[in-house]
Amino acid sequence: MAHQSDLIAQDIHAYLKAQEEKSMLRFITCGSVDDGKSTLIGRLLWDSKMIFEDQLASLEADSKKVGTQGENIDYALLLDGLQAEREQGITIDVAYRFFSTDKRKFIVADTPGHEQYTRNMVTGASTAGVAVILIDARKGVLTQSKRHSYLVSLVGIRHVVLAVNKMDLVDYDEQVFADICKEYSAFATDLGFDTITPIPLSALEGDNVIQLSDRTPWYTGPTLISYLETVQIADVGNDKPFRMPVQWVNRPDLDFRGFSGTIASGTVRPGDEIIVPGSGQSSCVSRIVTFDGDLDAAGAGQAVTLTLTDEIDISRGDLLSDAQQRPEHADQFETHLVWMHEEPLLPGRSYLLKTGATTVPVQVTTLKHKINVNTLQQEPGKSLALNEVGICNLSLSKAISCDPYQQNRATGNFILIDRFTNATVGAGMINFALRRATNIHWQAMTIDKNARAELKGQKSRVLWFTGLSGAGKSTIANLVEKKLHSIGKHTYTLDGDNVRHGLNRDLGFTDVDRVENIRRVAETAKLMADAGLIVLVSFISPFKSERQLARDLLEPGEFVEVFVDTPLTICEERDVKGLYKKARAGELKNFTGVDSVYEIPENPEIVVKGGEHPAEQLAEDIVRKLWGITVPL
Ligand code: ADX
Repeated sequence: MAHQSDLIAQDIHAYLKAQEEKSMLRFITCGSVDDGKSTLIGRLLWDSKMIFEDQLASLEADSKKVGTQGENIDYALLLDGLQAEREQGITIDVAYRFFSTDKRKFIVADTPGHEQYTRNMVTGASTAGVAVILIDARKGVLTQSKRHSYLVSLVGIRHVVLAVNKMDLVDYDEQVFADICKEYSAFATDLGFDTITPIPLSALEGDNVIQLSDRTPWYTGPTLISYLETVQIADVGNDKPFRMPVQWVNRPDLDFRGFSGTIASGTVRPGDEIIVPGSGQSSCVSRIVTFDGDLDAAGAGQAVTLTLTDEIDISRGDLLSDAQQRPEHADQFETHLVWMHEEPLLPGRSYLLKTGATTVPVQVTTLKHKINVNTLQQEPGKSLALNEVGICNLSLSKAISCDPYQQNRATGNFILIDRFTNATVGAGMINFALRRATNIHWQAMTIDKNARAELKGQKSRVLWFTGLSGAGKSTIANLVEKKLHSIGKHTYTLDGDNVRHGLNRDLGFTDVDRVENIRRVAETAKLMADAGLIVLVSFISPFKSERQLARDLLEPGEFVEVFVDTPLTICEERDVKGLYKKARAGELKNFTGVDSVYEIPENPEIVVKGGEHPAEQLAEDIVRKLWGITVPL
């Protein structure tokens, strides 16, 4: 440690240069507090002449003062993890520590070990090349060692150190070590690691951490630090096919058109043929432009601007790719999804999927099964709670380009974002593209929506009545329909109670089922609007996400949200169906307004006060507002 500090003090340029030339290894330690993880990290930092973080902070400040070389130590690296997620402001409990030896620089991600921290582990492991799985020699391979191993394999780590710690407490017994290695190897065969390196350790006593220990003469492998200093990680990105998400189309004047982004994987040289997977158009790289001048080649992690030999259509979000090794380009995928939010995943709900430089609306169409991360067993489930992992099919509103995660970590991961709160709610890995809809093309019809509506002398519309049970939605909708019918309009009413007898008879009142209920009704309303009808929809539709989904399915101006704003007390007083009474008595679960939420519309086109005026007057107001006429019944 001392000599490094001296070097920093004496010649920071020399120090930074030395740092720059060293390779970097990111690794993660997995274990619980009792496994001696902190002791091990502490010992690595202490014994390996590390730099304390505060020293690094001042180093960074100094680096800035002395100029550009400071960028070689990128403090942001210490805080990395899932970068996009960090931008999304999720709080993840992962500590990143930096240290270096003469041979290498290291960033170690340290995550809390207990059960509830799947999301932290996934975040910490997502950029790591090696996982150090700590095992207490006295306890052997525990359920949580298995869970850690599964998650580590899930995020694509291929090299594992089986750190059998506390060997001092089992008298450095070779047999204990051998048994643990055997048990672990048997378990890990399905996880697909390239290497598993078992090392007998005592973090406390320092055995085999930095120096080979006399107390394990039977052990012939490397020390932990020499393993970490020498392990070769193939997955650095440069050996993968070229991929660069276009962040920005750089067009300062008519003579220059460049595509800027950070290379996600592979290398690129002038003359290379690249393709835009979405359009299938290809071209050749003409120049690699950077602030420091043109380059002959650039690789993963470098921010560059590419110019091409042809004028082809490229926009932000496109994934420029090696023309010979193309990525997947599809709008449906099978994925592993890790849920990271207290609000559970609701299949059918519209979230945003962000990958590379693209963000698109997405729905989980099927939760095929959950994975119990402790037993690795498949379990059925309708939704994912915080820290749960599932295999999900996703349907995107637009095709994206990406790779299966197992082939390319840089272009196979994504996060899911809540559309209203903008919070990161999940992180996932692409398994493969689903081809199911690729042979189905939109059939163009000669007679379109406008033609159908025109023949009926009207414009298609969807009047979406939302409000509590007993608010008066159906009564008002019914009166509106009668009025419209009487003046020759063509209408149809979709009513919650009725549709639940047929199309949606398989659905109950859990959040998951309500999301699906509204999704189907929204799609149905869309078809009816396409038929040229005026559609009246009367559903509680308690969630703003799904009301937004319905709105998004229709053309601007077609969707009219009518909030039937009747106070809960009045609905409960009326209690036409006696359901509030039952709900209050605990005989009916998940009743809206009692033990299930109703999210009040924020910007409805129309608000009617159901408790203040008779339904007839409210219906008249709606017709007048939308059609400009009064229709007495
Ligand atoms: S929604 O929430 O999914 O939009 P929907 O409008 O289809 O609900 O159905 C609501 C009707 O189902 C209510 O008017 C009521 O008659 C009946 N119902 C039965 N159980 C419940 C419940 N737990 N919560 C709300 N409504 C219920």
